[in-house]
Amino acid sequence: MYSNLLEFFKKTFESKPIIAFAPGRINLIGEHTDYQEGFVFPAAVQFGIWVGIQKNQLPYCRLYSMDFEEEYTFDWKSFSPKKGHWSTYVMGFLAQLKQAGYPIAGFDMMIGGDIPVGAGLSSSAALSVSIGTALSELFKLNLNPLSISKYAQNSEHQYAGVNCGIMDPYASAFGKKDRALLLDCRSNQHQEIPIDLGEYSLLLVNSNVKHALADSAYNQRRAACEESVQLLQAHFPDIQTLRDLKNENLDEIEKLLPSSLFPKAKHVITECERVQLAANYLKQGDLKAFGKLINESHRSLSRDYEVSCPELDFLAEKAWNFPGVLGARMMGGGFGGCTINLIRKSQIKNFQERIDNEYLASFNRHATFISVEISSGAHIILGRD
Ligand code: GLA
Repeated sequence: MYSNLLEFFKKTFESKPIIAFAPGRINLIGEHTDYQEGFVFPAAVQFGIWVGIQKNQLPYCRLYSMDFEEEYTFDWKSFSPKKGHWSTYVMGFLAQLKQAGYPIAGFDMMIGGDIPVGAGLSSSAALSVSIGTALSELFKLNLNPLSISKYAQNSEHQYAGVNCGIMDPYASAFGKKDRALLLDCRSNQHQEIPIDLGEYSLLLVNSNVKHALADSAYNQRRAACEESVQLLQAHFPDIQTLRDLKNENLDEIEKLLPSSLFPKAKHVITECERVQLAANYLKQGDLKAFGKLINESHRSLSRDYEVSCPELDFLAEKAWNFPGVLGARMMGGGFGGCTINLIRKSQIKNFQERIDNEYLASFNRHATFISVEISSGAHIILGRD
C-alpha cells in the first residue's frame, strides 16, 4: 500500500509526499464506558490508513481517495465540510486547526488504506489520526497524540453526528506493538500492558452486517447514561459520571433509577470493574479468568445495554461452546461488525469452518475471519526532507 501510494502520489501531483500512517484498533474489553469517563482496554492493529501529503502553493487543496478512486478539490481559505463524504474528515480536521489559529496553506493529499470495511476496526478514527499526523508534520505544528485524538473525536461529533468517546482515536494515536492500553478516559492517561497470549491468539469474526440504527442508538445510549447521572446526583452528590460508582452501589442505584435506565447504568458500572480485573488477570497470565470476563462483557452488552444483534449473539454463543475458545464477545459500538475471540491457535482452522457453516445456515451470509496483530500507533513513514 505504502509504495503504491508513494508512486501514485508522485504521478498524480508531481511532487514527493510526506507519508503518515495510523492504525485501526481492537478493544479487549471495556465497551461503552469511554463517554462516561470510564476504563477501556484497546490496542492498535496491523491494518490502517496511509496519508501522503505535500504543499502545492495553490489557493486550493486537492484530495484523492485511492479506495473510492475519487478526487475532491476545495478552497482552503473558505470551505464547509459536507457530511457523509470521505473529504469531511480532511476538512473537519483542517477547520479545527484553522480555528485554533494554526498556520495552514494549500496542499495535495492522497489517502489509501487496508482496514477491512465495516468490521468495526475504527477506520474513521484511523483516517482522522492519519490526517492529523500528516498535517502536523507538513506544517510543523508539533501536535501531540492527545491533541490529535481530541481533534479526531471532535470531527466525529461535529461532522459525522456520532457522539463517540476518545477510545478509537486514542488507541490509533498511542498504540504500541504487543501492548494494550489500559486507558482511563477521565485523566486521558494510559498504562501499557504487554500482551503475551502464548498458544492463544485474538481472532475477529466479522458478522458482515451493520444495522442501520447503529449511530442513533449509540447517541441514545450516551444520553441515557447522562440522564442516569443527573438522577443519581441527588443521592450521590459527588459523582460526575457513572465511572464514579461501584458494583457495591448497584442495589441502591436500582431503587433510584427507572427500570428503563437501570440496566444501562449497571452495564457501564460493571464493565469498568471488569476492565480493571481483566488487566490484573493479563498481568498474571491468567487467560482463563480473562476469557470469562470477556464472556460476561458480552452478556452485559447484549442483555443490559442492548447494543448487540442476533448475528453477534449467535457468533458469541457459538464460540463459547467451541473447545479452545476462552472468551468471545461483540466488539465496538455494536449492532454489527465483529466479535473478538480468544482462541487456541491450533483450533482456528476448525473453528472457522464450523462457524462459517453454521452462520451461513442461520443468516444466509458468510462470516469472515481476521487475525489481528497488536501493532504500533500513528507515525510518520516518510518525513520532511
Ligand atoms: C465506538 C465509539 C467509541 C466507543 C465504542 C464502544 O467505537 O467510537 O468511542 O464508545 O463504540 O465502546
